[in-house]
Amino acid sequence: MYEQFARFYDKLGWGEYAKSLWPLIVEYMNSINFKPENMLDVACGTGVLAIMASRDGIKAEGLDISSEMLEQAKKNAIEAGVNVVYHQCDMCDFDLNKKYDLITCTFDAINHLRTFEQWVSMFKCVKKHLNSSGLFIFDMNTLKDLRENWNNIKVKKHPRGDYLISKSISFGDMACVTFTAFIKKENGLFEGYEESIMEVSFPLEKVVASLKDIGFTNVTITNRHFKLVETESLDRAFISCRA
Ligand SMILES: C[S@@+](CC[C@H](N)C(=O)[O-])C[C@H]1O[C@@H](n2cnc3c(N)ncnc32)[C@H](O)[C@@H]1O
Repeated sequence: MYEQFARFYDKLGWGEYAKSLWPLIVEYMNSINFKPENMLDVACGTGVLAIMASRDGIKAEGLDISSEMLEQAKKNAIEAGVNVVYHQCDMCDFDLNKKYDLITCTFDAINHLRTFEQWVSMFKCVKKHLNSSGLFIFDMNTLKDLRENWNNIKVKKHPRGDYLISKSISFGDMACVTFTAFIKKENGLFEGYEESIMEVSFPLEKVVASLKDIGFTNVTITNRHFKLVETESLDRAFISCRA
């Protein structure tokens, strides 16, 4: 998974998501007077969120299933001059024998898990790794998003000259996107890569009920600014809860 794209994930601008999200998470944590000393970013990808946290003085760790993404995450941490510990694990089944104040899982990483049993296993692993007053924040693409926004072909030209073509098709509560990237090399020629990703979603009420069953409290659904809105309107929902 993400074998091909690991090298181009940040170049294609996907690392920007975490860069713009981290200040919003900080603002939210400040608003509830929550000051984490350490954090774990689950499905950390190229490690951008953990690097941002580390720069803010939080002892940050990341976890991902993809060795290629983790390799890039390690390079990014060295380049940023921060010390982030990365673990290669499945987010549905990990035991790091440690607890964290803050656990995050962002950029619809959870939607990569195809069954609700996997979502529940992931929640249970997170709960086990959270300190008693810990905070868990994740985002998910909603059913509305997969049904309404995943039936298209988009072509994007990046400022560096790279092209990204995404072809998505929705099957209702699951959707598939194939990314074809043409990355401009120094000699002006292009390198082509293709990778497909499947995403699955579930009703928000089902997700909230499961979090509460597992023992999470203060389960709240918001938009990316951590503001309460009509949940039916959300393409991407941000869910925060306490251990
Ligand atoms: C869309 S990327 C998000 C990466 C990062 N959170 C970000 O904001 O850029 C999804 C990530 O989920 C990871 N992933 C998918 N399934 C996983 C699993 N079962 N366990 C751990 N990581 C997984 C992928 O390898 C990929 O790095």
